[in-house]
Amino acid sequence: MNSFNVKEVLDQLTIEEKASLCSAADFWHTKTIERLNIPNVMVSDGPHGLRKQEDDPDHLGFGDSVAAVCFPSASALACSFDRDLLKELGNALGDECQAEEVSTLLGPGINMKRSPLCGRNFEYYSEDPYLAGELAASYVNGVQEKGIGTSLKHFAANNQEYRRMSISANIDERTLREIYLTAFEIVVKEAKPTTLMCSYNRINGTYSCENDWLLNKVLRDEWGFEGLVMSDWGAMNERVSALKAGLDLEMPSSSGINDKEIVKAINNKTLDMETLDTATKRVLNLIKHFYDNKKEGISYDKEAHHNLARKIAGECAVLLKNDNILPLQQEQKVCFIGQFAKEPRYQGGGSSHIHSFKVTNAVDSFASMSTTSLKGEEQPSAPFAKGYHLSTDKIDEALLQEAVELAKSVEVAVIFAGLPDSFESEGYDRTHLNLPNCQNILIQEVLKVQPNTLIVLHNGSPVTMPWINDVKAVLDVYLGGQAVGESTIDLLYGKVNPSGKLAETFPVKLEDNPSYLNFPGTEKEVVYSEGIYIGYRYYEKKAMNVLFPFGHGLSYTTFQYDDMKLSNTIMKDTDTLSVSLKIKNTGSVFGKETVQLYVKSPSGTQVRPIKELKGFEKVSLQPNEEKEILFKLDKRSFAYYEMSINNWYVPTGDYEILVGSSSNNILLSQTVHIDSTGHLPFVVTDTTTCGDVYKYVKDPSIFDNLIKKCILSVPLSEDNSLGEGSTEMIKQMFDGMPIHSILSFGDFGITLEDIRNVINQLNAK
Ligand code: BGC
Repeated sequence: MNSFNVKEVLDQLTIEEKASLCSAADFWHTKTIERLNIPNVMVSDGPHGLRKQEDDPDHLGFGDSVAAVCFPSASALACSFDRDLLKELGNALGDECQAEEVSTLLGPGINMKRSPLCGRNFEYYSEDPYLAGELAASYVNGVQEKGIGTSLKHFAANNQEYRRMSISANIDERTLREIYLTAFEIVVKEAKPTTLMCSYNRINGTYSCENDWLLNKVLRDEWGFEGLVMSDWGAMNERVSALKAGLDLEMPSSSGINDKEIVKAINNKTLDMETLDTATKRVLNLIKHFYDNKKEGISYDKEAHHNLARKIAGECAVLLKNDNILPLQQEQKVCFIGQFAKEPRYQGGGSSHIHSFKVTNAVDSFASMSTTSLKGEEQPSAPFAKGYHLSTDKIDEALLQEAVELAKSVEVAVIFAGLPDSFESEGYDRTHLNLPNCQNILIQEVLKVQPNTLIVLHNGSPVTMPWINDVKAVLDVYLGGQAVGESTIDLLYGKVNPSGKLAETFPVKLEDNPSYLNFPGTEKEVVYSEGIYIGYRYYEKKAMNVLFPFGHGLSYTTFQYDDMKLSNTIMKDTDTLSVSLKIKNTGSVFGKETVQLYVKSPSGTQVRPIKELKGFEKVSLQPNEEKEILFKLDKRSFAYYEMSINNWYVPTGDYEILVGSSSNNILLSQTVHIDSTGHLPFVVTDTTTCGDVYKYVKDPSIFDNLIKKCILSVPLSEDNSLGEGSTEMIKQMFDGMPIHSILSFGDFGITLEDIRNVINQLNAK
């Protein structure tokens, strides 16, 4: 196909043809316009591999798809805290799409993990919008560098599966801006994704697909998005309203019904041609983009991509606990227990389900490691006991006993535990955070006979760990992709040093989670009453214990943080702050550390978290090696969304820059004073409190004169006649008293007229 000129084509299209381009031909293809030689393009899921369906199309992952490579899923990827790695993954997926002639990869999914119960959390990155946005931007850049498009999803506030196609997520605007939209904003601004996928749900009553505020005002006018917006599969409600709100492409299709609605609306003049042209132009751009960037004769090396999946999995796994038992030594007598050791759970269910061309497990990978290291000499594979069934939560006494007997006979027992497919998936939410009971019992029984027991976890989201104090180590490999067997052995035996950090908090129990009181909501709506307090923002504010904090992850080496310097100690909010520090590997093996930078805002009247992640860098260090790291912080790093000005605002004050190895292990800190250049509107009315007049009016002397005329000047004296603390009491009462109330406390010769006069003069200043 030769390239075409979008404007020329647009000029030649009939209304019917334009409308037809605004929905797909089938599950995965846009329509063709043969008359004008306009071909179609194919889109495919995503996001942690390519799910290209040739026959039996469906959006829930039931039907078959071409054999491809399954990389670790998003919840694992985020634990890498590694922008370069995400880009490398994006590049690989871009190549796969070129080879398979797929124009757009449907991902990444970057919704916030509001509740650990969301069935689709494994497909999402984090509870922190900055982390999710930065990593997803790298992924998008990686895919798009290869000339392939992406579809950032699900825009927005799709934070649960329960009634995802109809529920209204009711969220105040500040919370939306600071938490639920920020990751999207970062990706749109940093990586310019070619498309965005609208979520199924409503936001504050309006379907995302019909949300003019969301799609036209915020996404396009404010953030400058120039690409196409498509609906999630079947998310369309009222087609013409959606088109007006900025929803260009309906997926998959409505068998032409909605196309006719568009034509009807144009003809009866309830829809203007410019709106239809704009959407059609964006669809044509999507098609043109693919053919302009298509590389002929591309193929990809599946084995090489499998090796990349292995490398990535090694960077993502999080060593949660290690009482000096890991890494294991090859001479040690170990056994592997648990069905997952032979049949790992390496991806989640639903539309992201990849048809892996091969999968490795820990038992076989151990055997091949041993064979390789012993140069072909015979080496028995690690003894294995199944321990439990994945298909049922019933305890199988025979399997349990077999596992216990085996554990007794070795030096170290490695138990592979985690969530079976039925425990988490697209389409429904979890109801609890527990592992199957049969697995918890197995761990407890093995611990009775084998103190050197460690756990490898396969899970897409947090689980409770009733045995945490008794096991020697926990390695969380999340859903680590098709090479998870090899990467787990790499990590257990120290061939790879764990470097993942948790991208989400593991709470002690479900009830501790801030969304607990309002998840998943009622039949019609879910109210995000916890506001901006998601994940660690909440647990820290409430000084709660957690099982494992955000940003936590151990290594086989140690690091020393030193020499923190700020470029300024006093600055304006429009200035940039540079933060440098040194980090050294003080252990004896190569390792990687993720240095995390949090900003703590001054305490004041604004509702703000204790601290928020505003920078992170993953550093590789040989033993004794030291590197300098540099962070740049700008206005946004210090700001919150202030509703009175509908904008980001940095209050004047002292901000602490905190640097550490996890959210609860801050190792360096310094303070910078920031002077705000912004102004909050302050209008005095007769209900303004007296205290606020003194706080916000630059020259309150006229008000002072008024106050002095009445008994209210008492609080300014040191009169304790009403008892200890009375001065403070009167002061507080005065501060909180509306101006009009002055008249209620006696006749001071002041009239309402006098008060209004003073108010006018204060506002004039
Ligand atoms: C999912 C999307 C997916 C689409 C196509 C929908 O059900 O929510 O994430 O891309 O199906 O499979």
